[in-house]
Amino acid sequence: MQTMVTDSPEKAARFINDGGIVAFPTETVYGLGAAICHPEAVLRIFLAKGRPPDNPLIVHVARPEDVLKVADHIGSDAEKLIRRFFPGPLTIVLKKNSNVPDSVTAGLDTVGVRCPSNPDAHSFLQHCRCPVAAPSANLSGKPSSTSWRAVLEDLDGKIDCLFRGEPSAIGLESTIVDCSGPTPRLLRTGAVSMEELRSVVGALETSDCLLTDETPRSPGLKYPHYAPAARVVLCGSREPVTTPPGVRAAYIGLSVPEAGGLSLSRICRTPDEYARMLFDFFRLCDSRRIAVIYCELPPEEGIGRAIRDRLDRAASGH
Ligand code: TXA
Ligand code: MG
Repeated sequence: MQTMVTDSPEKAARFINDGGIVAFPTETVYGLGAAICHPEAVLRIFLAKGRPPDNPLIVHVARPEDVLKVADHIGSDAEKLIRRFFPGPLTIVLKKNSNVPDSVTAGLDTVGVRCPSNPDAHSFLQHCRCPVAAPSANLSGKPSSTSWRAVLEDLDGKIDCLFRGEPSAIGLESTIVDCSGPTPRLLRTGAVSMEELRSVVGALETSDCLLTDETPRSPGLKYPHYAPAARVVLCGSREPVTTPPGVRAAYIGLSVPEAGGLSLSRICRTPDEYARMLFDFFRLCDSRRIAVIYCELPPEEGIGRAIRDRLDRAASGH
């Protein structure tokens, strides 16, 4: 299959409306989308990514009020979160309505919905006739794609179209909050921080499934994620890094490491920059055949929590 690369949101949306699968930019990471009114196209997403079929997809809408296209009932906490954070890097899980096929939700009676703030994503979604189900546009298990080049590296020839935009401004996937039960529950950390969520909804459950669980509420969390081919080793701030001789090693973090013999290193000025660089750096390391990547753990606050979550998963291959 030939993958058509375009800079035009209209052209990209035409592929979606015709039942194709299209990668597109968002502020978090690139998505690989299909219209929810074309369930056969939704199934092709799973094939292209090699994604386990029991891992549900997030539905993307152009405007906050379009949430009503996929959910009939929005409770007061969800309402508050939507008002404060949509459009933006937050996904809300709600009871789904009958517009959402089982292929999107992997049979769950809930749906994750998100309204991206990236202007390219917005104009693309506006040209799509139905909401767009989209996981991250990477091969399953690999780091999410934060640039159009990363998308092509993984999916060229497997998808109908790539809508080429800017590199992702945030670089980590959206925060996910489950609002389908009595108390909102944080399922995945992201750029909308726990502190910000708590300032909007009084109570917020944070579950152990953020780490591991046999029956995670967010099914995707049980699969390996974000892992480069290289081994990821976590280190504390200013902890000396020792590289065995002859091993190609790299480092990413906020402080300058005490280490010699690194083949590649990236010092990030802020946690936001760390988030934006991380997945791109993992891919760069793989292309340079790096064997070990040392990653400094950022402070456990704000987006630092989300970085630590992705680093933990990359390090454990989980
Ligand atoms: O920032 C993002 O969220 C990106 C962009 C493209 O929007 N998307 C993304 O999708 O990261 P994906 O498929 O890579 O991760 C979605 C996560 C998975 O862990 C999945 O299990 C969870 O969301 N999820 C989706 N629907 C759910 C639902 N109804 N209930 C619980 N978890 C859900
Ligand atoms: Mg993903």
